[in-house]
Amino acid sequence: MTAPLRSGDPINVNVGLGNRAYDIAIGRGLLGSLGERIAKLRPGCKVAIVTDETVARHHLSAAEAALMSAGVGVASVKVPAGESSKSFRQFERVCDALLAARIERGDLVVALGGGVVGDLGGFAASVIRRGVDYVQVPTTLLSQVDSSVGGKTAINARQGKNLVGAFYQPILVVADTALLDTLPEREFRAGYAEVVKYGLLGDAAFFEWLDANWRDLFAGGNSSGSFAREHAIAVSCRAKAAIVARDERETGDRMLLNLGHTFGHAFEAAAGFSDKLLHGEAIGLGMSLAFEFSARRGLIPQVEAARVIAHLAAVGLPTHVKAVPGGNWPGVDAMMDLISQDKKVKRGQLTFILVRGIGQAFITRDVAADEVRAFIAEKLGAR
Ligand SMILES: NC(=O)c1ccc[n+]([C@@H]2O[C@H](COP(=O)([O-])OP(=O)(O)OC[C@H]3O[C@@H](n4cnc5c(N)ncnc54)[C@H](O)[C@@H]3O)[C@@H](O)[C@H]2O)c1
Ligand SMILES: [Zn+2]
Repeated sequence: MTAPLRSGDPINVNVGLGNRAYDIAIGRGLLGSLGERIAKLRPGCKVAIVTDETVARHHLSAAEAALMSAGVGVASVKVPAGESSKSFRQFERVCDALLAARIERGDLVVALGGGVVGDLGGFAASVIRRGVDYVQVPTTLLSQVDSSVGGKTAINARQGKNLVGAFYQPILVVADTALLDTLPEREFRAGYAEVVKYGLLGDAAFFEWLDANWRDLFAGGNSSGSFAREHAIAVSCRAKAAIVARDERETGDRMLLNLGHTFGHAFEAAAGFSDKLLHGEAIGLGMSLAFEFSARRGLIPQVEAARVIAHLAAVGLPTHVKAVPGGNWPGVDAMMDLISQDKKVKRGQLTFILVRGIGQAFITRDVAADEVRAFIAEKLGAR
């Protein structure tokens, strides 16, 4: 972890991917500079904004004004808010609108929204006219720290989530922390699960800092001069950028980012990918289980797992299987099926991200299905 900020200047995090490297600019109020930044990168370009209806209501006119004031021509396409827009139907609508707006090579797509819009807009940019450049303006905490880093784009297929997509890097990310002021607290908290994940997987000092400062980060304002939100987003982006730079296509180290995701995805799927359990909430639960399971295996002291779980609970994330409101889980067989359907299963072997301490995650295939089964059975039965 680098030292916390003392000023409100924008922070730049470079994602070092050779000739596909790009910058993430992080700061409060940066949306106003979007037009200038784009005009500097692609003089004379036109822009089509892809957004969702909720984000449009809050932030589209400011984004359009920022572009127009820099002389950048702009068209917009809106999709309904929510995961169901990562569909072939909305993908077709977006491609159609981008072509109708005469977006050509040299022009830009701007994805203004959360992970849904980033994944959909990025994927559309990757294929129209065999690829036009795109800029991400992430508007959720999750998208500022996770989906805007690393260039994964996708829509969902009837066979599963994110099954049709491409690795396609943006040319710029503008993360304006003020946009998060309109985000419902539940969404903010879910995004926070991915923030604390970076501390838990590789940066104990960051976890300590979050444990002391998470309230400032949620409060968001800079009146105390803490810049906690900007700092946490920058540390998170740097952490993900470093891992992605080592392993862009997720053949090795990038799997560390799945801490909490093998257990978490199974519960998210069991909840039907619904409002009952948001992705980040499932990851909070999944990380709690990963720490507990690691303690069970003697990898870390129980008190250390308990500290992590206490932090997640203090923030308001679910940490116990039984604590999820309306959590009416299927039996252990169905849960084991969901765990072994996870994409991290390689030729029938379960892959887990476990921990040797806070900030010391590692990848292992040495976990017997029976052991996981006994653990899950106990959790499903526990009060
Ligand atoms: N590409 C990647 O690497 C990657 C990584 C993680 C997640 N994802 C994807 O991201 C998606 C989840 O992203 P998400 O959590 O950002 O969800 P989301 O994009 O659906 O946004 C959540 C909700 O918040 C609303 N919203 C967004 N910004 C707002 C704002 N500033 N003010 C008020 N409301 C706002 C949206 O309209 C939506 O209703 C999933 O589809 C997931 O697969 C992709
Ligand atoms: Zn995640």
